[in-house]
Amino acid sequence: MSTERMHVRNAEEREIDHLARLWYEGWQDAHAQILPAELRRLRALDGFRQRLQAALPNTRVVGPRGAPYGFCITKGDEFYQIYVSAHARGSGAAGALMADAEARLAKSGVETAWLACAIGNHRAARFYEKCGWRRVGVATYQAETSTGTFPLEVWRYEKRLAFAI
Ligand SMILES: CC(C)(COP(=O)(O)OP(=O)(O)OC[C@H]1O[C@@H](n2cnc3c(N)ncnc32)[C@H](O)[C@@H]1OP(=O)(O)O)[C@@H](O)C(=O)NCCC(=O)NCCS
Repeated sequence: MSTERMHVRNAEEREIDHLARLWYEGWQDAHAQILPAELRRLRALDGFRQRLQAALPNTRVVGPRGAPYGFCITKGDEFYQIYVSAHARGSGAAGALMADAEARLAKSGVETAWLACAIGNHRAARFYEKCGWRRVGVATYQAETSTGTFPLEVWRYEKRLAFAI
């Protein structure tokens, strides 16, 4: 994929359906085998659409307008979500989204960012470690669902960010 196509930009309202599908499919790939069946049942396509709608101002994407192949969401000091479609994994798209997110977090004054990774999601864990994130332990994460929060044991990662002055 060309450098031009790795350009990270704001998500657009009209991309929500496409991104919800990407999130839904990526969630199944990464989590269907390792997370509780109860949470799996709550992860319907419409729930992802609603969460994207709410998070749109903090959602960044890579890929063609109307059909991006990766997105990333930040939330306060949390690196909240990163999903890349199956065909774009291993392409550097995830690294471009991560670099953009870290720069945005640092610019907003976050010194140490954190993220939650499902226990057993080894590909994501390897990716985070490659990007300089450190696993600091197991923590209880309140996963957002359409019916409230769902407590989940996760690997907590942290990264101290360089100051962007
Ligand atoms: C997590 C994600 C964004 C990372 O992007 P990516 O393009 O796959 O990342 P990369 O290929 O650069 O890095 C992944 C690393 O894991 C390695 N890997 C692949 N499968 C693996 C596995 N089953 N176990 C351990 N490592 C694995 C890859 O070889 C690569 O390491 P390397 O560069 O040293 O060879 C992407 O895989 C994804 O969207 N996954 C589905 C959704 C997801 O899990 N999101 C995170 C939620 S916490």
